[in-house]
Amino acid sequence: MNDLDQLVQAAQADFLQAGAPADLENAKARYLGKAGRVTELLKALGALPPEEKKARGAEINAAKQHVEAALNARRQALADAELASQLKAESLDVTLPGRKRGEGGLHPVSRTMERIEAIFGSMGFDVADGPEIETDWYSFTALNNPENHPARSMQDTFYVDMKDAEGRWLNLRPHTSPMQVRHARAHAAKYASQADMPEIRVIAPGRTYRVDSDATHSPMFHQCEGLWIGENVSFKDLKAVFNDFFRNFFETDDLQLRFRPSFFPFTEPSAEVDIAFSSGPLKGRWLEVAGSGQVHPNVVRNFGLDPERYIGFAFGMGPDRLTMLRYGVNDLRLYFECDLRFLSQFK
Ligand code: DAH
Repeated sequence: MNDLDQLVQAAQADFLQAGAPADLENAKARYLGKAGRVTELLKALGALPPEEKKARGAEINAAKQHVEAALNARRQALADAELASQLKAESLDVTLPGRKRGEGGLHPVSRTMERIEAIFGSMGFDVADGPEIETDWYSFTALNNPENHPARSMQDTFYVDMKDAEGRWLNLRPHTSPMQVRHARAHAAKYASQADMPEIRVIAPGRTYRVDSDATHSPMFHQCEGLWIGENVSFKDLKAVFNDFFRNFFETDDLQLRFRPSFFPFTEPSAEVDIAFSSGPLKGRWLEVAGSGQVHPNVVRNFGLDPERYIGFAFGMGPDRLTMLRYGVNDLRLYFECDLRFLSQFK
C-alpha cells in the first residue's frame, strides 16, 4: 500500500469517527485544509523534477477525490441520522384514541325561547329586542301606570338611583311590556301617514328583573311580550293565537284554555290565561301561563297612534314557567345554577 492509499484510508477512518458535523469539519481540515495533509502533498509537487510531476500530481488528485467522496458520504450519513432522530423524537402515534371534547347543548330556557320565536314567527310575528335597563317612563308611565299609582307595586322593581341623559329615572325592567311602546313607536315612525302603516305584530322575548326569590321566582327571569295592533284586531284573535301557540308549543291538542278576568293598567279588559292538560302528569290542573288584554287607549296614544283607529291586544308570558311545564322541572332556580347534572339532561 503506497502513502496515498494510506492517506485515503486514514481520512476515511477519521471521517467515520466523527460523530457530529463539527467533528467532521475538524477532520476535514486535517486533510483538505490549508495545512492539511493533501494540501501539503500538492505543495510539495513543486519541488519534483518535471518528468515526475505529472504522474505524481494525477495520483494526488485521485487520492484527493477519494478523500472528498468519503467526506461527502459522511456528511450525508450524519445529516440522515440527525433527521431520523428528529423524526423519532417528534413522532405522533396516530393509533392513540383522541381526547373527547365535551358536548354542549342549548340551555332549556333558550330552547323555549327558540320555540316561541319559531311558532310566533310562523304566525307572522316579528321578533324585537330592547334594553334591560329601562326608564321609568317606558316601564310604567307609558303603560298607563302613572307615578305614585298603587298598581306600580304589583311589581317588585329594582330601582336604580340614577337618571338617563334626559333626566328619567332608570330601573331594571320588571317586565318586557316596555317593548310594546318602544317597538310600536319605532314602527309608527317609519311611515309618513298612518294610512300606509302595516299592522304591528311582534313578540319581544328577553330578560326581566324583580326583587323576588323562591322555587318559582328568580330575581332574573324571562318574559316574552306580544303585541298585535291593527284596525280590526280583537280578543277573538288573541284567543286564536293562544290556542295555536299552546297546542304547538306543547305538541298536543289535549289542552284547554281559560281566560280569567284580571287587572293590568295597560289593558282593558284584562285577563290571565290558564291552560289545563286533559292527560299526563299535570292532568286537570289549571296553570297560569300569561297575562293579556286589549291594549288600553292611553297606551295606544303613547304608541303615537290614534286609539279611535287602532286597537289590538297584548300579552306577556313566562318562558321559564313554560319550560318547567314542558320538561317537568320543579325548581326554577335550577336554570341559573349552572349545574351540569341538570343542564346535560337537555342535550
Ligand atoms: N307585564 C305583565 C307582568 O309582568 C304581563 C302582561 C299582562 C303583559 C298583560 C301584557 C299584558 O302585555 O297585556 O305581569
